Amino acid sequence: MSTSRILTLNEVIIQKQSAFPYAKGELSRLLSHIGLAAKIVNNKVNKAGLETSIIGANDLVNIQGEAQQKLDAYADDIFTKALQASGIVCGIASEENDEIIIFDDDLSLDGDYVICIDPLDGSSNIDVNVSVGTIFSVYRRISPHGQKVTNEDFLQPGIKQVAAGYIIYGSSTMLVYTTGLGTTGFTYDPSIGEFCMSHYYMVTPKSGKIYSINEGNYVNFPQGVKQYIKHCQENDADTNRPYTSRYIGSLVADFHRNLLKGGIYIYPKTASAPNGKLRLLYECNPIAFLAEQAGGLATDGYGNRILEIKPTDIHQRVSFFTGSRNMVEKAEEFMRECTDEKSK
Ligand code: AHG
Ligand code: MN
Ligand code: MN
Repeated sequence: MSTSRILTLNEVIIQKQSAFPYAKGELSRLLSHIGLAAKIVNNKVNKAGLETSIIGANDLVNIQGEAQQKLDAYADDIFTKALQASGIVCGIASEENDEIIIFDDDLSLDGDYVICIDPLDGSSNIDVNVSVGTIFSVYRRISPHGQKVTNEDFLQPGIKQVAAGYIIYGSSTMLVYTTGLGTTGFTYDPSIGEFCMSHYYMVTPKSGKIYSINEGNYVNFPQGVKQYIKHCQENDADTNRPYTSRYIGSLVADFHRNLLKGGIYIYPKTASAPNGKLRLLYECNPIAFLAEQAGGLATDGYGNRILEIKPTDIHQRVSFFTGSRNMVEKAEEFMRECTDEKSK
């Protein structure tokens, strides 16, 4: 007889915890707090068309020089409070704050973890009812317990992540996370107010048919990217091309679709974004961890694994290629060939 009992996020977190022999349950508690903040933000996102207090811009500009949306600030506030309330986080690095936020109450000073977070990803899509997300990354602190965290705690390479995940506020809301034991997805059931396990062990197809890139920037793309796009667009019965172009403009939503269906997401360097646009700490590293845990790849397009890059700045940007293994490898091949061409 098959049992189809629904497992909630908290139940699965506790079950998986037993896989870590020395776990004190802290990481589980932390993920529960993230789940709680996600529900609060989800509730607001769902009302975005109704509440004028949360649509539109703030008249503020964040450290990236980008207009801050009201919901960016709201989500930042909710996640910050939830993380501090967990009592096990000693500080956070957020897209919405120039400097790291140090939690200096007695409990938090002793906390084990630091968090990097993009509280609301794809925020330019809020006002037009298109999917947005939250991306987070969890590290163990390296500074001594009891002291204030420093930038060094956050400038760890992505391979040091102990957990990472995203929430997609889409046609349904999902929370997808990894602690290095595969990528697991939960769908929010609003009738019971719980994230319920819907995707136990997510495996991304080795090859896909979708390429996702903002082609409006085409003339400013590196030659290798242009050649790869041409490759995607060519008719080839053997390799099932042309591929399909899909681009939402919310990294979380574009990545989530490609994770399930197979595809590649590229945000390369461009003339206006000479280091790429996406941020290493709270966009690329967590997504890279999830991609690898699902059998995919994440590189900078120049042969470097994202998770091995040693960050030097909290808000550092990086060029980003992620998705199905064969597609990322193919794109890397074009990038190599074009760099080689130039250097001849
Ligand atoms: P954010 O809203 O957190 O600033 O992130 C926006 C990012 C990412 O979600 C998306 O993939 C990318 O910016 C879209 O950029 P373009 O509009 O340049 O394509
Ligand atoms: Mn973002
Ligand atoms: Mn954001």
